[in-house]
Amino acid sequence: VAAAAAAAAPASRSSVTLTQDDLKKIAAYKAVEHVKSGMVVGLGTGSTAKHAVDRIAYLLQQGKLKDIVGIPTSSITHNQAVSLGIPLSDLDSHPVIDLTIDGADEVDPNLNLVKGRGGSLLREKMVESASKKFIVIVDESKMVKHIGGSKLAMPVEVIPFCWNHSLNRLVSLFADSGCVGELRKSGNCGKAYVTDNGNYIIDLYFERDIGDLNKASDTILRLPGIVEHGMFIGLATSLIVAGVEGITVKT
Ligand code: 5RP
Repeated sequence: VAAAAAAAAPASRSSVTLTQDDLKKIAAYKAVEHVKSGMVVGLGTGSTAKHAVDRIAYLLQQGKLKDIVGIPTSSITHNQAVSLGIPLSDLDSHPVIDLTIDGADEVDPNLNLVKGRGGSLLREKMVESASKKFIVIVDESKMVKHIGGSKLAMPVEVIPFCWNHSLNRLVSLFADSGCVGELRKSGNCGKAYVTDNGNYIIDLYFERDIGDLNKASDTILRLPGIVEHGMFIGLATSLIVAGVEGITVKT
């Protein structure tokens, strides 16, 4: 797409019909404007973050960016970045990241997020919590009033051992919110989806809002067998939302 043109002008004036993927690309390209030479950059995962990785690689190839070190948040992003020639490292060597750019499944007005419907929540949270800046990039469909009450999945990464027991304990924690849960499956083969870390994912669905997010987070993380959950509370430092009417930036 003529992403730059579309980013600059509302669709109604440019008479371009923007797809959801166009909007993701516009948000991603806008965020990459904040990447400067010499930075350590966290590389997010998903169809939106993929555009940011493509753009960083393009700018490196053009010589417009230099000396970037990428810290990928998943094996998929790692493979994409390697195929594009982006130099990579990890948190062991770079415990402080200058800027991470990543997508989200839901974003509330306080920049709290649900992430992990793509399965990479643990590495994403490790990288994003080590980042000085974390720019979230989304198309407008991801904006919600409250996370954890949208009736869409809130993923929780669990160890495979007795996952059904963990599922039942998670569901019973949120009985008041009409919670149900299911083990995430891999495609149509009926087998459990396995994360990059060798774990499983339980998707929780809530009939009603879960209320205090920090309390919900603490309660989940206290359960043995739980590795991490997909609520990203207070981690994002800015948000770029691409919509058909243009771009909104929130800090
Ligand atoms: C992966 C994620 C993704 O950032 C999230 O699922 C958004 O993906 P997409 O940009 O494809 O909509 O959290 O674990």
